[in-house]
Amino acid sequence: MGILPGGGGGHTNGGRAHWEQMSTVLPLLPATGLPAGSPGPDRLPESAREHLATTPFGLYVHVPFCATRCGYCDFNTYTSDELGPGANRAEYAGTAIAELRRAAKTLGPELPTVSTVFVGGGTPTLLPADDLAAVLAEIHRLFPVAEDVEVTTEANPETVDGGYLTRLREAGFTRVSLGMQSAAEHVLAVLDRRHTPGRAVQAAHEARAAGFEHVNLDLIYGTPGESDADWAASLDAVLASPVDHVSAYALIVEEGTRLARRISRGELPMPDDDVLADRYEQADATLGKGGFAWYEVSNWATSDAARCRHNELYWANANWWGVGPGAHSHVGGLRWWNVKHPAAYADRLTAGLSPAQEAELLDDDDRALETIMLGLRLREGLPLSSLSLTGRGRADDAVRTGLLDPSAHVAGRAVLTDRGRLLADAVIRDLTD
Ligand SMILES: C[S@@+](CC[C@H](N)C(=O)[O-])C[C@H]1O[C@@H](n2cnc3c(N)ncnc32)[C@H](O)[C@@H]1O
Ligand code: SF4
Repeated sequence: MGILPGGGGGHTNGGRAHWEQMSTVLPLLPATGLPAGSPGPDRLPESAREHLATTPFGLYVHVPFCATRCGYCDFNTYTSDELGPGANRAEYAGTAIAELRRAAKTLGPELPTVSTVFVGGGTPTLLPADDLAAVLAEIHRLFPVAEDVEVTTEANPETVDGGYLTRLREAGFTRVSLGMQSAAEHVLAVLDRRHTPGRAVQAAHEARAAGFEHVNLDLIYGTPGESDADWAASLDAVLASPVDHVSAYALIVEEGTRLARRISRGELPMPDDDVLADRYEQADATLGKGGFAWYEVSNWATSDAARCRHNELYWANANWWGVGPGAHSHVGGLRWWNVKHPAAYADRLTAGLSPAQEAELLDDDDRALETIMLGLRLREGLPLSSLSLTGRGRADDAVRTGLLDPSAHVAGRAVLTDRGRLLADAVIRDLTD
């Protein structure tokens, strides 16, 4: 999955936790948009523009629609088809294109080359394939695009078929990320998923047949009622499928979701931390034997070429523009996020205004901290020299307690051990305190 916007926090998941921990000073601005004159996408400070040409640049396009809401999900998504002018499914591609045009105007005249595009959601594949193709065509018209550009779309397994995927491949999409979650019927039922067991793997075959070289399956572990055998069956199903990438996330019980309410009423048990740790170890061992190597705490790929370059761009703290309601952007230390509701988002664009709601200019210390928090989750880890003096002392302790790799430490890098990966968030907190 794309880690933004949102994506689960805690245990072994990155994404949202990162944003929440990072905020130093968030100016509280009206929910309707940035006041005139404040730094934001319409007024990129010179410091933010400085390395635009030399920093990898990606585009994220959020599609805020789902057929139904899964009980565990608190992403910015809506099930109604009627959200007002510009925000309806039928008009949405045009509205997103309006923001892309603003982005090109703001970033120009010397535009950065787009190295990755990620269409996420919500359920992007609820839109006709021609609409996703039109968004991508407009990106090509507006921006210089790298010859080897990676273009991913997320897809719910029940929303695609061979014809749909072929149309996307022809339009220039290079990667599909399918939300499989589990191979067990009763687990899919607890998660409120609409697809049947087997459908995700079948869709992966269809994606390969349509010419996609890169296909990902998303899994969730620790769902109430999931047994060791269920999880083993999900992993085996992934290994038997023609994919080159797997993301596996611990189920996060997000406040305000149906799942959280069911747990607080006692209808379902809370996922247990020890079980989550066991599941993670089981995943890493099984995927490892099956030819998948971890390259970020929650992500495994069959080769370096199979890694998700768009997520790598986030983790490297590079530049990206997030299009769509609630989407986050980062350009050279300026971070902003759009108004959340699709109707408010469309209204602002129609009125010729930026859809940005709040912005934050990070200083060098904030950016260094972010780089550590993201870098430590990667297989390559990060140079010990990027840690503070206290952090380096804590890294020595973490080597002694088996959380950081001793040989990497001798070579001057902080790299998580297998046990360290289980406690990644705690190690990161310790090294950055
Ligand atoms: C938000 S969905 C968007 C893509 C698509 N609609 C789908 O469901 O596959 C992307 C991924 O986020 C993960 N996710 C969402 N909410 C989560 C939660 N509460 N805990 C763990 N993973 C979650 C799921 O693995 C899902 O595949
Ligand atoms: S389909 Fe995906 S985005 Fe939509 S509610 Fe379910 S998990 Fe969330």
